[in-house]
Amino acid sequence: MIILKSEAEIGLMRRAGSLVWHVLDKVGQAIRPGVTTRELDAIAENTIREAGAEPSFKGYHGYPASICASVNEQVIHGIPGERRLVEGDIIGIDVGAVLDGYHGDSARTFAVGAVSSEAARLLRVTEESLTAGIEAARAGNTLGDVGHAVQSYAEANGFSVVRDFVGHGIGRKMHEEPAVPNYGRPGLGKRLRAGMVLAIEPMINAGGYEVEVLGDNWTAVTRDGSLSAHFEHTVAITEDGPVVLTLP
Ligand code: CO
Repeated sequence: MIILKSEAEIGLMRRAGSLVWHVLDKVGQAIRPGVTTRELDAIAENTIREAGAEPSFKGYHGYPASICASVNEQVIHGIPGERRLVEGDIIGIDVGAVLDGYHGDSARTFAVGAVSSEAARLLRVTEESLTAGIEAARAGNTLGDVGHAVQSYAEANGFSVVRDFVGHGIGRKMHEEPAVPNYGRPGLGKRLRAGMVLAIEPMINAGGYEVEVLGDNWTAVTRDGSLSAHFEHTVAITEDGPVVLTLP
């Protein structure tokens, strides 16, 4: 069942989303060669708790941290630890927070110092593919329209779309219906309505789309070892079009 949100609820979700934006910004400012992903996790957790919110990820199906930190060929769900970033890495940071009962969920992939031109292009195209998906997230369109917008943009730029993980509805729970694939065919799938709130989160690989999960049972990596990027926003569908909630 897809749970529609009232304008008042969307207002509460905007507060959670705004906090998540600030957390991502603060973590982003700390990203540099030499920092560990555990230090980034601590910054996020402290910032979330200082705001009177709770990290959505911590304890979720036993997940041990407040952020996911996914480096280079890691696609999503990298667990923070003692790894130190080095110049040329890319790192996906995914943050979720629940404030006054409502979740915000957003991710960005950052460059660590100077990165290869191919890595820089992957980051740019992945973020732009998210923008294309958000543009398509309009009442009357379908989930297939959203997925197709993301997929056609990424593939036109020579990259591939991860199939094994998808976006999701979000509200009082971090994961609600519907599933939001980053691939699809125009006009197919559920029709979007005002009041739906979706976490749209393309995961785009420089090589093939296949992924596998490491022995820690969380970290998803590209099967061919190619770089991967991830951007995510929490987006409300309103009569006036898509509204990104994970902004300042
Ligand atoms: Co999400």
